[in-house]
Amino acid sequence: MSERSFVMIKPDGVAAGLTGEIVSRIERRGFEIIAMKKTTMARDAAESHYGEHSEKPFFGELVDFITSGPVVMMAVTGPEGTIAALRAMMGTTNPMESAPGTIRGDFATETGQNVIHGSDGLESAERELELHFTKV
Ligand code: RTP
Ligand code: MG
Repeated sequence: MSERSFVMIKPDGVAAGLTGEIVSRIERRGFEIIAMKKTTMARDAAESHYGEHSEKPFFGELVDFITSGPVVMMAVTGPEGTIAALRAMMGTTNPMESAPGTIRGDFATETGQNVIHGSDGLESAERELELHFTKV
């Protein structure tokens, strides 16, 4: 059984020139990038993407940030467990608690600017892939 996830390098990661490093880590791990694009997310897409957080106090800031500049979106496939493995590679939401060797643990210090997004489950992966890619 294969599994696929939606992975996105956030505006801070793109601006810091981390696209190649992150793409390389995903590839070297053995996952396959089956679609990739650089784009600036529209506000309505961002509000839908982070819809689960719409009632949180940080929602406005989160949408402002994620639409603030170009992001790199990817559809990534691998064996069963890929979604969780990609989340493990990313590190915890708060980068100050992320282990060294994880993407956030190596390249971020702020929860609000934590370089990368990855789907947190099968349902969110399919929802996010459908939202951001027409057909993959
Ligand atoms: P993401 O969805 O971006 O991959 O991050 P995540 O799963 O690790 O964390 P999640 O709980 O889904 O939160 C989404 C993003 O909102 C910002 N956040 N700020 N101020 C806060 O307490 C707070 N909590 C979350 C972070 O930028 C987080 O990545
Ligand atoms: Mg999340």
